[in-house]
Amino acid sequence: MEVVICSDEQQVGRVAAERVIKRLAGITTPVLGLATGSSPIALYAELARRAENGDVDLSHGLGFALDEYVGIAPTHELSYRDTIRRTVVEPLRMSPARVRVPDGNAADLKAAADEYDRAIREAGGVDVQILGIGGNGHIGFNEPTSSFGSRTRVKTLTQRTRDDNSRFFATGEKVPTHCVTQGLGTIMEARHVVMVATGAHKADAVAAMIEGPVAAMCPASILQFHPSVLVVIDEAAASKLTCADYFRHIEDHRAEVGA
Ligand code: GLP
Repeated sequence: MEVVICSDEQQVGRVAAERVIKRLAGITTPVLGLATGSSPIALYAELARRAENGDVDLSHGLGFALDEYVGIAPTHELSYRDTIRRTVVEPLRMSPARVRVPDGNAADLKAAADEYDRAIREAGGVDVQILGIGGNGHIGFNEPTSSFGSRTRVKTLTQRTRDDNSRFFATGEKVPTHCVTQGLGTIMEARHVVMVATGAHKADAVAAMIEGPVAAMCPASILQFHPSVLVVIDEAAASKLTCADYFRHIEDHRAEVGA
């Protein structure tokens, strides 16, 4: 796992965006895996700036969001569909018809989830999966104890995740209890993963993911098996890493080994 420790959130966004652009270079129909949440906001803002400059063209690209709440209206501003429209599709100049979000309102949620998983494969798979990480180590909405072989499916949210995400919802408005999320097995099929995390509240999860044992209690730890993962974090999110100096040393000497 490649780990880059940055001074602040803006630098995290710049470094991560640079890598996403590099990974997509030369691909005619790039397929992006899209995370919601606050973590990738700076990354998307930088990608938007670079799209405006003409450094990257995603107008022919495809997008697959990681997850969606069950039972939330697609027009609700906190639905992941609307969040992806506002923070990704429009600023990155992607085509709305080419960016999909799991359907959390399907009459048959299981069938819709299965079809979503198939659609990712039929698109040729995800070239670059953008990820955040939950405070409990979840990726997408794969909560602790999720199967490492899981595919897109309905999951029950933990109370911790509902509490964490309650900050976005208006007072009195309930955080949904269920979601549809790409599985850990689905995410692991992406060719490249770029994860961003900032803030001290992510430090335990980041350390468990990078240095801890691969364990279902930290779903993100499965990424230790993935051959192409870049983790871009700020100092606060890196504060529990015992190997932080090693990662800084690698970055400082990257040019010397031609990497
Ligand atoms: C959310 C999303 C994840 C996200 C994570 C962290 O609930 N399902 O995709 O990466 O939890 O969220 P944030 O970036 O807001 O801290």
